[in-house]
Order: sequence, then structure tokens, then C-alpha cells
Amino acid sequence: MAVRGKFITFEGIDGAGKSSHVEWLADWLRQRGLVVQVTREPGGTPLGEKLRALLLSEPMHLETETLLMFAARREHLAQVIEPALERGEWVVCDRFTDATYAYQGGGRGLHRSKLQVLEQWVHDHRQPDLTLLFDLPFEIARQRIAHATRELDRFEQERAEFHERVRHAYLDRAAANPTRIQVIDADQTMDEIRKLLENIVSTHCL
Ligand code: TMP
Repeated sequence: MAVRGKFITFEGIDGAGKSSHVEWLADWLRQRGLVVQVTREPGGTPLGEKLRALLLSEPMHLETETLLMFAARREHLAQVIEPALERGEWVVCDRFTDATYAYQGGGRGLHRSKLQVLEQWVHDHRQPDLTLLFDLPFEIARQRIAHATRELDRFEQERAEFHERVRHAYLDRAAANPTRIQVIDADQTMDEIRKLLENIVSTHCL
């Protein structure tokens, strides 16, 4: 049986710049001979991508939003993440359950106890091996979002206070999980961030 692969997730508020590093990290790992799947949440499967389109555009009740995030995640784990890890491949995923705690919990105020029930149901407290949290004051992230040429989604359109609450919820989770969640100061050059990512991933996963 293959040695189980590693599961690495990227997190951060909208505009923190994490997504530009996801493919780069996957390539860096591939250069080390690893087979790497790159995926994202919400999304990552045909059904999950349909749920993503709804989640990013359609107004809905907070609990509906949370349940759909976890429904997409259940499918993603079953179809993509778990099979890849079982085959010994690595999975690099743009967002996972920490995002639900940060956005639906911190940002929108859903009680943690409900999130814990869904988390246990969907992945039984199995956690990523490493989470890279891109941290940035929302004022800087807002300027990055403002430069986007596409239409902003339902989350990006939220007010500054929402994003501040999301950021603090992420930092609280990092403080509670200091080994798994590594905080990266995202207000640095691409090269500086890549050096940091190399060091963190080498130390924690290789
Ligand atoms: P993305 O822009 O990073 O692809 O993520 C899409 C949006 O979905 C982002 O604003 C954060 C939000 N989101 C949640 O609110 N809860 C979740 O559980 C996940 C995975 C994403």
C-alpha cells in the first residue's frame, strides 16, 4: 500500500494573494518528484463547482450556505481528496474547513457548535497536515480586490467589518493550532513569500 500523501491547504481573507502561490507550490513539489493534485473549495468536483457558482452569487440563509459548503466538501473528499491521498499523492487545496470557521463562523456569526457537528460528520476531525494562512490587514487586501477586473462575488462585496471578523477568526484558529496552521505575512514580495513557503513546507512535510 502506498504511503499516504500530504494534504496542504491555503487560507486567508479575500485579496490576501494566496491563490497566486497555490500552483507555484504544486510545481515546486512536483520538481521534488511528488505527484500533486491542485484543487479548491468550494468546488473541486463537477457538483462542487455547481454549488460554488450558487454559493458565490445567490443570496441564502446562513445555515443553507454552511450546509452547502459542507455538502461540496463531502463530495470533494469522497471523489478527489481521499482517493488521491490514499494513492500516495499530495493534495494542495485552496481553502478547506478553516474557511468555514472563519467566514460562516467568524464573519457571519454561526455558532461554533454547529460547525463542529458538521465537521465531525464530514471529515471526522481529520485535518490538513499543514495549513498556510496568508494574513494581511483588510485595508491592503481591499486595494487588491479593487483592482480585480471581474465582477466581485457575494463574499468580496461584504463590508470591511465582515472581512475584519474573518481575519480575526482565522488568527484565533492559528493561535489554537500553532503547529498545523502557519501564518504568513502576506504583505511581502512574491519572492519573499516563496522562500517562506519553501522553508515551512520543507520543515513540516518533507
Ligand atoms: P476563493 O475566492 O478563495 O476561491 O473562495 C471563494 C469564497 O468562498 C471566499 O470568499 C471564501 C468563501 N468560503 C466560505 O465562505 N466558506 C468556506 O467554507 C469556503 C471554502 C469558502
